[in-house]
Amino acid sequence: MILDAKNISKSFRNGSRELPVLKNLDLEIDKGEIVTIMGPSGSGKSTLLNILGTLDTADSGTIIVRGQNVDSLDDESLSKLRNNHIGFVFQFHHLLPEFTAIENVLIPARILGNLSSAEKHAHELFEYVELTDRMNHYPSQLSGGERLRVAVLRALINRPSLILADEPTGNLDKRNAEKLLVLFNNICHDFQQTMVLTTHDEHVATLGNMQFVLESGKLILQ
Ligand SMILES: Nc1ncnc2c1ncn2[C@@H]1O[C@H](COP(=O)(O)OP(=O)(O)O)[C@@H](O)[C@H]1O
Ligand SMILES: [Mg+2]
Repeated sequence: MILDAKNISKSFRNGSRELPVLKNLDLEIDKGEIVTIMGPSGSGKSTLLNILGTLDTADSGTIIVRGQNVDSLDDESLSKLRNNHIGFVFQFHHLLPEFTAIENVLIPARILGNLSSAEKHAHELFEYVELTDRMNHYPSQLSGGERLRVAVLRALINRPSLILADEPTGNLDKRNAEKLLVLFNNICHDFQQTMVLTTHDEHVATLGNMQFVLESGKLILQ
């Protein structure tokens, strides 16, 4: 199992009011699976994804990534786990404007000290998404769909076993959204990677071989 989340609860405090967002939620994910989590805005999708990716902590419950309970890890081990095994794709791509597309993709590899071996892989990835001729462009010189594909490559460069994508198609037109979904599908198939993708779009949710709806703080299998 890649990821095992047990009994996850999380509330936010707004002034004196307590807002429960996740309530004793469970999720088990095996290697190679594509899990989609659908829910309207405010249902807690980002909160859940951030907790699964160890960017945020739950109030209670356990997260086990690749057999390791993340509670038992110190900050350094946790950031190592994140850098090595988890790739994030956000709705807003956060590419650094002063770096070219390929430089952006190589940032996580640079952090891990893997730059030389990652360069070849970066070229393969650009070829894979048919962006080889855009490699040396700056983000401002790319279209929205191209930027998002570059952000996806950045999430893939360290060959993470788990990819977490938070409403990745939210900002794309239909055609680019469709292309991105095909890309995700191919990636999971070709590289045996696991993906958790949130969306508010029913059509996007059908990409999953496990499809959940996040409702009242719990995941309901469709
Ligand atoms: N840091 C925070 N402080 C207070 N409330 C928050 C915080 N983050 C999220 N929330 C609230 O938790 C709920 C779930 O938010 P979120 O996970 O972003 O939902 P989604 O991604 O499904 O739109 C929302 O009501 C939101 O306002
Ligand atoms: Mg969100």
